[in-house]
Amino acid sequence: MKKVNFTRLHSKLPLLWLVFLLTFSTTIYSQEEPPAEKATAAENAAPPPPAPADAGGDVAAGESLFKANCAACHKLDKKAVGPALRGVADKFDRDWLHKWIRNSQAMVAAGDPTAVKLFEENNKMIMTPFPALSDEDIDNILAYTNQPKSEPAGQVTPETVATTGAAGGEGGVSNSLVLGALALIFILLVIMLFLVYSTLKRIAKANGVVVEPEAREKRTPLWKAFIHNQFLVLVVSVFFILAASYFAFGYMMQIGVDQGYQPVQPIHYSHKIHAGDNGIDCNFCHSSARKSKTSGIPSLNVCMNCHKNISEVAPETATEEYSKEFYDGEIAKLYKAVGWDPENMEYTGKTEPVKWVRIHNLPDFAYFNHSQHVTVAGIACQTCHGEVQNMEEVYQFAPLTMGWCINCHRDTNVNLETNDYYEKIHAELSKKYGVEKLTVAEMGGLECGKCHY
Ligand code: HEC
Ligand code: HEC
Ligand code: HEC
Ligand code: HEC
Ligand code: HEC
Ligand code: HEC
Repeated sequence: MKKVNFTRLHSKLPLLWLVFLLTFSTTIYSQEEPPAEKATAAENAAPPPPAPADAGGDVAAGESLFKANCAACHKLDKKAVGPALRGVADKFDRDWLHKWIRNSQAMVAAGDPTAVKLFEENNKMIMTPFPALSDEDIDNILAYTNQPKSEPAGQVTPETVATTGAAGGEGGVSNSLVLGALALIFILLVIMLFLVYSTLKRIAKANGVVVEPEAREKRTPLWKAFIHNQFLVLVVSVFFILAASYFAFGYMMQIGVDQGYQPVQPIHYSHKIHAGDNGIDCNFCHSSARKSKTSGIPSLNVCMNCHKNISEVAPETATEEYSKEFYDGEIAKLYKAVGWDPENMEYTGKTEPVKWVRIHNLPDFAYFNHSQHVTVAGIACQTCHGEVQNMEEVYQFAPLTMGWCINCHRDTNVNLETNDYYEKIHAELSKKYGVEKLTVAEMGGLECGKCHY
């Protein structure tokens, strides 16, 4: 009997080990694979395509001239106000280009057939004349526009696409392979443990050892002892009631308080990029904050004042969290919503309004007026809304509770200096309260009716 058991164990273990090792070997193999492929991909990507021969001119000087004079209307690879300019020197005669850039309208007026055709094709939009540019300047610009398209890191030539594509696929497979292998190993370990356990048990049985759960000592259970001690029960119950009401109160006070609320907006509109990095004044978009009760969200036409010409963000704008593609996609959403066709630079007429999710919202029974706080009291937006210019997405900064309003009214002095309206009231009230400066509270800012309809 004994012998049979042992041989069975011996015959099983080597097999298990074999399976175990094999799983590991595939994992190791799959992890080594991608680097080898990457190396070939890098080899393929190494030589950049040679520049066209005719591009005689200073590219760097051309670039700065282009940015200063032409970038407002032209992009290299995409139609803006004017056509895309990459490779334009190959399209037209050089003398013709010099004349065109110096004064395109003169050529149109003189009836140059190419010029007239271009002008008509572009909806008769007028290109600014640049009589001040020298021949050399123009050649430099053309050298810049004839630069081959520079690819971002990881050149995408057709060959590399094939190889890197394969390598990328392999990487994905190897990841799931590793996971699968780990899962398999785990299952194998469990099976092995179980086998060892049952084998040991069988050996023990064969040896005549009886395995039985230990007999327990008879004792009074803890809970019974607890129930018998009345004082302890009282203390614990009181504790529980207190804790429960504490949490219940906390929970109730949270109802309707949405501090930190940060919904996902239909367009990822970043205040950090607009109000922060680009320094756009809050009032440019929230113009009614100064003169009316509400501050309002700008209509999409306001956005299009700029975005007719900004269809993509600069590469530097991209962060680790949000890529350039993501941001460009969000601008595309704006175009879709206003019905703007960036290719032809015209409205299609097909609009679909953006439904911004409202963040700050007082209950209907409370009255709050922006102009009174922003214009009359001169309070900065940031006092109540936080550092919005640093927020990628706006969230509710202040609790917006009654206590929050009241506290500020108790602590803040009324700004009287620029406001004649208050002079008389101030003279009377400061006498009444015997103070130099009046707080909002002393002026009536705590009266229920001021804030409640
Ligand atoms: C105010 C906008 C504007 C500015 C600034 C401008 N262009 Fe243009 N450009 C146009 C428009 C619009 C056209 C299309 C023709 C037309 O409607 O007159 C055009 C056409 C051209 C063409 C012909 C392109 C083609 O593929 O048919 C060239 C070349 C050109 N521009 C070069 C330049 C250069 C170089 C500069 C800077 C020194 C410049 N442009 C500045 C608006 C502009
Ligand atoms: C280019 C336009 C623009 C500028 C500039 C701008 N905002 Fe906004 N703001 C918006 C848009 C669009 C929304 C709605 C989408 C959102 O909540 O992100 C918004 C939402 C808000 C909200 C939340 C509104 C709500 O739903 O409760 C606050 C608060 C706000 N802006 C404050 C500011 C402040 C403060 C500044 C200046 C530092 C500023 N904004 C500058 C366009 C702008
Ligand atoms: C005063 C000009 C201006 C106005 C008005 C403006 N933008 Fe922008 N917008 C910009 C600039 C500049 C950039 C960033 C370009 C960059 O960083 O390269 C940008 C970038 C963006 C982006 C990509 C980055 C991001 O925020 O996610 C979106 C989306 C966008 N704008 C939407 C809007 C919307 C919606 C409005 C209207 C509420 C608006 N913009 C109004 C100038 C403007
Ligand atoms: C004294 C505090 C305070 C100041 C200062 C303040 N806000 Fe507000 N803001 C609020 C409150 C409270 C609400 C919620 C109003 C409501 O729900 O009726 C709000 C709501 C908003 C909204 C949402 C839309 C709306 O009108 O209800 C925007 C946008 C906004 N504020 C922008 C601004 C801007 C921009 C400034 C600066 C020019 C500013 N706020 C200054 C307290 C303030
Ligand atoms: C950051 C400080 C601050 C906060 C927060 C604040 N207020 Fe005020 N509030 C003022 C000041 C300062 C004035 C005085 C303006 C003036 O000169 O008339 C004022 C005036 C008022 C008035 C007019 C009072 C009167 O006597 O005519 C009302 C109503 C009011 N606030 C409502 C609110 C409400 C509602 C909230 C909360 C949602 C709030 N305020 C939050 C600073 C604040
Ligand atoms: C400075 C403005 C202001 C004044 C003055 C004010 N309230 Fe309020 N009150 C508010 C705001 C804002 C809310 C909404 C708070 C919220 O949504 O959490 C509120 C909410 C309430 C609520 C609902 C319970 C709650 O906390 O949400 C009651 C009841 C109330 N107020 C009674 C009063 C009474 C009574 C007075 C006069 C003694 C008064 N309020 C004076 C601004 C004010």
